[in-house]
Amino acid sequence: MKKRLRDKLSEALPSDELSKVYNSFDVIGDIAIIKIPKSNLANEGAIAKQIMASQKNIKTVLTPATRITGDFRVRALKLLAGENKTITTQKESGCSFKVDVEKCYFSPRLSGEHRRIANLVKGGETVVNMFAGVGCFSILIAKTQSKTKVYSIDVNPVAVGCMEENVKVNQVKECVFPLFGDSKDIIQALLQGVADRVLMPLPEKALEYLPYALMALKKTGGWIHYYDFQHAPGKEDPVEKTKLKVAEKLDCMGVRYVFANARVMRPTGPNWYQTVLDIQVTALPSKF
Ligand SMILES: C[S@@+](CC[C@H](N)C(=O)[O-])C[C@H]1O[C@@H](n2cnc3c(N)ncnc32)[C@H](O)[C@@H]1O
Repeated sequence: MKKRLRDKLSEALPSDELSKVYNSFDVIGDIAIIKIPKSNLANEGAIAKQIMASQKNIKTVLTPATRITGDFRVRALKLLAGENKTITTQKESGCSFKVDVEKCYFSPRLSGEHRRIANLVKGGETVVNMFAGVGCFSILIAKTQSKTKVYSIDVNPVAVGCMEENVKVNQVKECVFPLFGDSKDIIQALLQGVADRVLMPLPEKALEYLPYALMALKKTGGWIHYYDFQHAPGKEDPVEKTKLKVAEKLDCMGVRYVFANARVMRPTGPNWYQTVLDIQVTALPSKF
């Protein structure tokens, strides 16, 4: 698509302006979201119209008006073309996810990771998803593995509202339990010692919330999927940096564990990476 977008714009824009057009954009349901560099704002209308002309399924083109911020990990969006709306439905791996792209976090770039985790879960497991958003990991797990129980927590009421609808539409009401609130409070109050597996898909809070992930695990241990952002310029290894940071915290708490899998999921900027660790916790100290 990126070539076609630039190719199609080649008649409308001079070549120096064309080179500033970002090569890729996200499509969520029937909404496209494209970043426009400040130096190219004069062409944003032409770029948006070209996206709509070349992809007939797209009804709305938006551009970020702010950076992603705050606990909810959301950003303001500005309408560039099409219907003035921010709610859509994304199809992913046979599931259907309603999302308000302005009021909830959602990234179509996580679909591969949603599938990877769903395939690791075994039938009958209890899973705690500490930062569930509109429920993508939780619902796909329930759809993929029978008899799982997924406690699916988020602190954003709009995300939890979408998650509740998504649970109904995808017919996983018996398996996925949306919970509204701060995951550390909910785990302390309701979910101590219940989980075979805990998901921590919020890099900004993962280290701080690691003790609560351990608290949610069964006394015999289990799995934690830990997500991080790492700055790793030059020869630095982002995966090793995440491992070191997490190992220091786990060692301090007297936890026994193995890093069963550790990898870069994707680059997120110049010298920045999103990493993931699949941590097998083999023994917990008695305080947990
Ligand atoms: C990166 S998003 C999660 C994305 C989601 N797992 C997915 O795959 O689409 C992080 C989510 O954590 C939620 N969040 C932030 N702080 C939280 C907390 N203390 N407890 C529960 N949820 C929290 C945000 O509202 C946001 O929806």
